[in-house]
Amino acid sequence: MMGPGATSIHGASVAVLLVFAAMSSGQIIGSSHDFTGAGWAQAQSCLPCHTPHNASRVEINGYAAGRLWNHSLPAPGQIYKTYAGDLARNEALDSYSILCMGCHDGTVALDSFGGDPGSTFLTGGGLVGTDLTKQHPVGVSAAWPEPESSDLNPRHTWENQVFGNSRMGRLRLMMVDGVERSVVSCATCHEPHGRGGHEYLLRIDNASSQLCFACHAK
Ligand code: HEC
Ligand code: HEC
Ligand code: HEC
Ligand code: HEC
Repeated sequence: MMGPGATSIHGASVAVLLVFAAMSSGQIIGSSHDFTGAGWAQAQSCLPCHTPHNASRVEINGYAAGRLWNHSLPAPGQIYKTYAGDLARNEALDSYSILCMGCHDGTVALDSFGGDPGSTFLTGGGLVGTDLTKQHPVGVSAAWPEPESSDLNPRHTWENQVFGNSRMGRLRLMMVDGVERSVVSCATCHEPHGRGGHEYLLRIDNASSQLCFACHAK
């Protein structure tokens, strides 16, 4: 026995559900990782990074990375200046960050995927470069679970806040001074598929610095 009022409430809740469905599904289309309109990307969304067939099996510093990966990586001997100011080879970065650097350090072409060398390079604000002294530490500089400073929240606090149950957001493992540790990577703060729809592809919105407060007890 539903009156018109009840019907319209029902209609409104369907609309709300649809909005939630749109939010919880991927947001790569329309994000800055939506390459479909870029001339270098063959009008493909996933292909510059992943391929269903003939993918490279990427292993970096002994750790598997890059599922069905299709994009070229920085050369094995590529030198970075780490946050600590050391000149270090690839091995100083964690495996996720290396995947990002395959476009963002500017040494490898954007269209270097599927075996092509490519010729279009990232420029402008998206270019991070190889000098990481002015970027939030990734890889070796960000040791965990034994941080050098005690201002970091317990791991579970920010794992819940920043990552939810996202598999991808987990910290990367790597060897630091001979000990296997979990480290912060580019993909700790950023979600390459734009899931959640936050600006700068962030995992959570950084309004009022809440991304920073998730880890730093300041
Ligand atoms: C800019 C690069 C980039 C683009 C574009 C991209 N991905 Fe990814 N994707 C990644 C990275 C980095 C990972 C993590 C790699 C790893 O697990 O080692 C990943 C992981 C995944 C995973 C496994 C983990 C997860 O998050 O579920 C799936 C599935 C996936 N991508 C599907 C897609 C599909 C489908 C598209 C196109 C709609 C796409 N990706 C576009 C970079 C990208
Ligand atoms: C296939 C090349 C490619 C790979 C791999 C890639 N990116 Fe990007 N990324 C781009 C391009 C192209 C842009 C757009 C730059 C621009 O608009 O000038 C971009 C933009 C971004 C932005 C800027 C977002 C904004 O809204 O301004 C962030 C953050 C970012 N990428 C993070 C990452 C992270 C983290 C990874 C690794 C998990 C990654 N990217 C891997 C090509 C790539
Ligand atoms: C601790 C969190 C954190 C880590 C780790 C991190 N980022 Fe970011 N990144 C941010 C935030 C927050 C922004 C938003 C803009 C700002 O505050 O500069 C951002 C902005 C960006 C942008 C856009 C810059 C612009 O001006 O358009 C790019 C590209 C980017 N990050 C790539 C990377 C890459 C590549 C890595 C790994 C080397 C990385 N980020 C590691 C938090 C992080
Ligand atoms: C996933 C957790 C995490 C997030 C999110 C995060 N940080 Fe960090 N941050 C770390 C870790 C780990 C270190 C390494 C130093 C340490 O052990 O204390 C660090 C180091 C730093 C340092 C000190 C570097 C030094 O010289 O010792 C600053 C400053 C900093 N982060 C600022 C930020 C800001 C600003 C944000 C938000 C954009 C942010 N962090 C987000 C984990 C995080």
